[in-house]
Amino acid sequence: MAGSMKGLKRSCRCAEVTEEMLGKRITLMGWVQKSRNKGGIIFVDLRDRSGIMQIIFENGEGERFIDEKGFEAAESLRSEFVIAVTGVLEKRAGGVNEGLVTGDRELRAESLTILSEADTPPFPIEADSKTREELRLKYRYLDLRRPDLTRNLMFRSAVAGSIRHFLLEEGFLEIETPILNKSTPEGARDYLVPSRIHPGTFYALPQSPQLFKQILMCSGYDRYFQIAKCFRDEDLRADRQPEFTQVDMELSFVDVDDVIEVNERLLKYVFKENLGMDIQLPMQRITWQEAMDRYGSDKPDVRFGMELKDVSKTVKDSEFAVFKNALEAGGSVRGINVKGQAGMPRKKIDHYTEFVKDYGAKGLAYLAVQEDGSIKSSFTKFLTEEQTAALVAAMEGEKGDLLFFAADKNKVVWDALGNLRVKLGADLELYDKNEFRFLWVTEFPLLEWDDEENRYVAVHHPFTMPMDEDIALLDSDPGKVRAKAYDCVLNGVELGGGSVRIHQGDIQEKMFDQLGISREDAHEKFGFLLDAFRYGVPPHAGLAFGFDRMVMLMLGCDNIREVIAFPKVKDASCLMSEAPSVVEPSQLEELGIAIVKSEE
Ligand code: AMO
Ligand code: AMP
Repeated sequence: MAGSMKGLKRSCRCAEVTEEMLGKRITLMGWVQKSRNKGGIIFVDLRDRSGIMQIIFENGEGERFIDEKGFEAAESLRSEFVIAVTGVLEKRAGGVNEGLVTGDRELRAESLTILSEADTPPFPIEADSKTREELRLKYRYLDLRRPDLTRNLMFRSAVAGSIRHFLLEEGFLEIETPILNKSTPEGARDYLVPSRIHPGTFYALPQSPQLFKQILMCSGYDRYFQIAKCFRDEDLRADRQPEFTQVDMELSFVDVDDVIEVNERLLKYVFKENLGMDIQLPMQRITWQEAMDRYGSDKPDVRFGMELKDVSKTVKDSEFAVFKNALEAGGSVRGINVKGQAGMPRKKIDHYTEFVKDYGAKGLAYLAVQEDGSIKSSFTKFLTEEQTAALVAAMEGEKGDLLFFAADKNKVVWDALGNLRVKLGADLELYDKNEFRFLWVTEFPLLEWDDEENRYVAVHHPFTMPMDEDIALLDSDPGKVRAKAYDCVLNGVELGGGSVRIHQGDIQEKMFDQLGISREDAHEKFGFLLDAFRYGVPPHAGLAFGFDRMVMLMLGCDNIREVIAFPKVKDASCLMSEAPSVVEPSQLEELGIAIVKSEE
């Protein structure tokens, strides 16, 4: 029978033994990592979340030995048994294990209690697991015992702690906002929760605390923050989850620079506290327009160059139909210079041509300036010699360089070359993986034309303030209006984003007009916010960081699931609990819900 805690008290965790404990009798508890029976002497690696301590069981009488019965119990130990061991902590007699923090210590067992036995786990509990992720996620409780996940979650907890510490010191109040909400007007699809008491109606889980934090500003809580759970029913990627965590904040009586300033200091503090890293302030800032022109992305990775160049003017008279047609349709021709890659095999070029097609490009034109100065290209046969020379010069092409070009609508060209640049950067190892390069992207467009909906949609959200100098354009040329919106980008990942909010009724109304939101609609959807604004609203602004992404990047993980205790997989299910699941017919009846099976 498994033992109880009666008469037992844990002294500390395995890897938390101190110098003072040497020679003393202590009790450790944890899981058996492995056990080696050398006949008359048994070595056990005991594991808990702090690390591993070697335990020695040697059969004999008196101090530093374990009696016959105890030794037999030790012989029965198998991986993942949970045990309590009392004994004397000693300097290790045999070789020091450099791989362990506690590698120069060992515990000489005098008594052993088996607290629970364990079945053989379906995969070994070890760092750098080779086990496929589906199996790990199904048995997440075992996976979470592995040292890499333990380290990640302990780190995550510490980062959350330092964020709280910093923001509280800065006068932010931590306030919780509701999970059961009204549908909010943000980008993604809502998760809905049916109401039992009001049949036929639904709550929406928050996509972010956006409206509530703005209301809090109206109520005078001039600096708010929350480490908030957010829910978005969107297609998942490596850095996206259906439920994720934001470090969310809002401030009153501020403008763009104030928000950026306090958040730069927050990041500096958090990176120093948790990684010992010194981030130079102020961080680099570029406008959205510059980001698109130079990198083809609103979240550029600035650890390496290979910037885009607009060569529309240079090729405007060429006879190459691809370029000509794109320019005539109001698009552009842009290129990147892949230094020293003129020798890239045709197969690889084809591979990158396929790659850009995922981003809507119809092809990828190339031009290699070979070492002997001759040109190898998919399109220069349509150009005069002068035109080719001018193009190479515009791209600063030198012997050995490979130039790639895309021609299309700006949006497609940016997307194709921007993503190609990032892909080439990774494939050709153009940057130091351990470097952290922060960047603020500012002055996002306020509105974006949506062909499907045949109207403007908000790039950030409908409460985002236009830039002061662009307010007049709201009526005349809405697509040109820049917003007081900013993103914080780290190594090509959007770490956070926010904006200054509209607090003037007339500007808000203009915004709704452009978005095609009627007064009734606006009132129906977020009347409570608009009402709150009528009773005295301070100018306010805010930002939210993706907390999971922050921890992921700080730890150098490539997947957000590695920093979340119980993540969901691509189809938004939990492999451990098997959520989502069907529910009892009686539950549906109570909610007045009937399931309609679709034909497929
Ligand atoms: P936004 O929608 O840009 O802004 O979200 C802020 C940050 O949250 C992270 N994030 C995600 N992380 C993981 N999985 C997801 N599905 C996911 N979606 C977003 C990103 C992103 O930068 N209310 C506004 C903020 C504001 O204006 O104050 C908002 O939610 O890192
Ligand atoms: P084609 O005339 O279709 O044989 O294309 C000649 C070259 O132009 C090939 O290398 C194509 O990949 C490339 N190409 C085709 N469409 C585009 C485009 N929209 N932008 C850039 N290159 C393109």
